Amino acid sequence: MFAQEENGGWLTDDLMTGVAEYLGLPKIAAYEVATFYSMFNLNPVGRYIINVCTNISCMLSGSEKVVEHLKKRLGVELGETTQDGKFTLREVECLAACAAAPMFQIGKKYYETLTPEKIDAILAELE
Ligand code: FES
Repeated sequence: MFAQEENGGWLTDDLMTGVAEYLGLPKIAAYEVATFYSMFNLNPVGRYIINVCTNISCMLSGSEKVVEHLKKRLGVELGETTQDGKFTLREVECLAACAAAPMFQIGKKYYETLTPEKIDAILAELE
């Protein structure tokens, strides 16, 4: 995480190789971790990464509408970053907040029982 944070929020091949060498691990071990967990980014990302859960509880509670609202509001598709570099929109698996679905995560904070109005208010705070 430290290597990623020091590089503007994403990992390069050189950084993953460097971390593996520092830890005395084969390069593949660093790549396996970086490609498995959604908190690691292998491409440049926006200042705020919006991780929208679309797993079963969120899907049944309207995550599709959350995604559509965010796509329309931000003008990006899933996996893309806004032109101003502010927001990256991503789809993730269950974030263990199923009882408050639909939800998304920005940084370390969870935003739950989302509605279009709540989403607009959250984005307005960040803009
Ligand atoms: S299904 Fe969305 S938090 Fe669990």
